[in-house]
Amino acid sequence: MLASGNGSNFAALVRAARDAGHQAVLLICDKPGAYCLERAERLGVPARLIQYGGRPRAQAEADIMAALEDAGADLVALAGFMRLLGRPVIERWRGRILNVHPSLLPAWAGVDSIRRAYEAGDPVLGVTVHQVDEGMDTGPVLGQERVGRAATLAETESLIHQAEHRLYARLVVELLDEVD
Ligand code: GAR
Repeated sequence: MLASGNGSNFAALVRAARDAGHQAVLLICDKPGAYCLERAERLGVPARLIQYGGRPRAQAEADIMAALEDAGADLVALAGFMRLLGRPVIERWRGRILNVHPSLLPAWAGVDSIRRAYEAGDPVLGVTVHQVDEGMDTGPVLGQERVGRAATLAETESLIHQAEHRLYARLVVELLDEVD
């Protein structure tokens, strides 16, 4: 799994995979000090910090691909990984890299999606799980869950994160079951 920040989706996937008899083999994080690293330690998932730093993207992503190969990953789940992956990674794993996004794509791609949808007055928001392609929050959609607007932005965010954890966990486990 690849994550950049808090890691709540990472943790939800680790637990769901374990409950279904699968294993999260590796967390790769690109941000030093990100909370997902602490979660990985607590959950007993091996973690690697791979920073992009000032180096060419291809170099960082060669390290990412090598780490995924070494770990024997069957599926790559982006869990709040806030970077666009380059073509070599996408081509190597095409159809087997998934992403979760907190909107009903194609609406509200990009950052800060929940707040933008809420402030625009959307009556129904939601979450999307999709295969990753070369675009930003694009690629074949595997599933969506609609979430009604709540009284406040914070409540709406909380409902959306719960929906993400539920939908992403279910779809990832279904795909892992197929690989076995
Ligand atoms: C999640 O809401 C995820 O959908 C979003 O980042 C958050 C990460 O939370 N991802 C994107 O916006 C990708 N474009 P988490 O670190 O607690 O899982």
